[in-house]
Amino acid sequence: MPESFFRKKLSRLFTGANEIALVNRIPSLEQLCNKFRDIAELGIYLHIPFCEQICPYCPYNKEIYNPEAAEKYTIAVKKEIDFYSAVIGNRPVTSFYIGGGTPTTMINKGIEEILKHVFSKFNMQCEIHMESHPNHLSKGNLNTILSMGVKHLSVGVEALQDRHLRALRRPYTTVEVKKAVNRAVSRNFKCVNVDLIFALPDQTYDEIERAGQDLAEMGVHQVAAYPLFRFPYTEMGREAGGSGCQISSILKRRKMLGILEDIFYAAGFERTSVWAFTRRGVAKYCSVSVPLYLGLGASGGSFLKDVFYLNTFNVAEYIGALENERRPIALSLDLSEKMQMAGWLYWRIYETRFARGDFKIRFEKEFDSVYGKYFKPLALLGFLKCDGERVALSDRGAYWLHLLEDLFSIEYISRLWGTSKLEPWPERVVL
Ligand SMILES: C[S@@+](CC[C@H](N)C(=O)[O-])C[C@H]1O[C@@H](n2cnc3c(N)ncnc32)[C@H](O)[C@@H]1O
Ligand code: SF4
Repeated sequence: MPESFFRKKLSRLFTGANEIALVNRIPSLEQLCNKFRDIAELGIYLHIPFCEQICPYCPYNKEIYNPEAAEKYTIAVKKEIDFYSAVIGNRPVTSFYIGGGTPTTMINKGIEEILKHVFSKFNMQCEIHMESHPNHLSKGNLNTILSMGVKHLSVGVEALQDRHLRALRRPYTTVEVKKAVNRAVSRNFKCVNVDLIFALPDQTYDEIERAGQDLAEMGVHQVAAYPLFRFPYTEMGREAGGSGCQISSILKRRKMLGILEDIFYAAGFERTSVWAFTRRGVAKYCSVSVPLYLGLGASGGSFLKDVFYLNTFNVAEYIGALENERRPIALSLDLSEKMQMAGWLYWRIYETRFARGDFKIRFEKEFDSVYGKYFKPLALLGFLKCDGERVALSDRGAYWLHLLEDLFSIEYISRLWGTSKLEPWPERVVL
């Protein structure tokens, strides 16, 4: 397969590794303390693995909400927090993201208790970013979300035409979801982000144009627009049988993304990540925004400088491990310096801009001495704009990065998450 040959070559070039393999090694307390020794600040990701429905396209780790599991999960997450608070001590936590699944399934069902625990056990110096489901945004729930301290809220809208909402099996109509978004926008969040999926089956260019215009007119602060990815282990991925990336769909995605770019730039938004457009002057809604972070909950992943840990995906196993005073880490991956640099670069480009000096601060090496030879031709081709110290991704570059994402992330995520969903404690996963 030319795709897998190209993927292996590129991966080897940037990471220096012939094979990237995660193994089932659980670090000792002492090893973990050592990992944190020279980490000055970190972010926290908290995973809530419950949903009221399972959407046919969704790759994330989740199961159907049930109150008993949520109650046990709350206790287990608090235990995991206790464990890490002893390891992390007073280091500042400068970014906090709650994702899922659907975090709002646990409103009044334990999430407030978990957040209180996070704030009492860690030195929190940041605001909360949280994902939500449109059906959970009643006036009462919005009051609770605000009282929990959430300042940046994301709403999974996905589409703004009933036929597409039905095809995605979303449990609301266009009229209902617009009302939910308007309710959120009218409250005092610093940023309300809306997730939109484009290049849906049979979606027309007119439809995506209307959806983009509607969102700009509704006053949302940010739109994260993703093309429909078909992960092989989801219902839609199985139906597509690996045909998610044909030339026709690549061209359609390119054109639709262009339509959205035109609408949002004209409405005063700027690109703040490969997929996100944020109103100028608004602090962007984003996932954990610092390079090193700790992942809490089932499937929480931690990136601690030279190692990556991944918790078990299985909610019952996660709860069981913590009940038995065991750490729920299922897999770990040691990261060579070349791998850390490749990971750093991927995320900085994903955010569409970075300063070369940040690379030097992190790795004590000149950016150009490591990546200059690749960046000069990319700038000549118009993928990047280099302005002295700062490097920014152009719209053309953003599009090609998306194709690279198809080549790497979808494949890597499918292997790692697909295996982790099937086996709670895999022996080894090769990416
Ligand atoms: C965890 S969900 C959002 C919160 C909530 N669970 C919901 O569905 O409303 C994260 C977002 O990822 C995006 N997403 C999920 N699966 C996707 C796929 N296969 N292709 C593109 N985007 C996807 C959707 O826009 C979704 O809103
Ligand atoms: S898209 Fe959201 S609601 Fe649907 S299964 Fe995924 S996380 Fe759950």
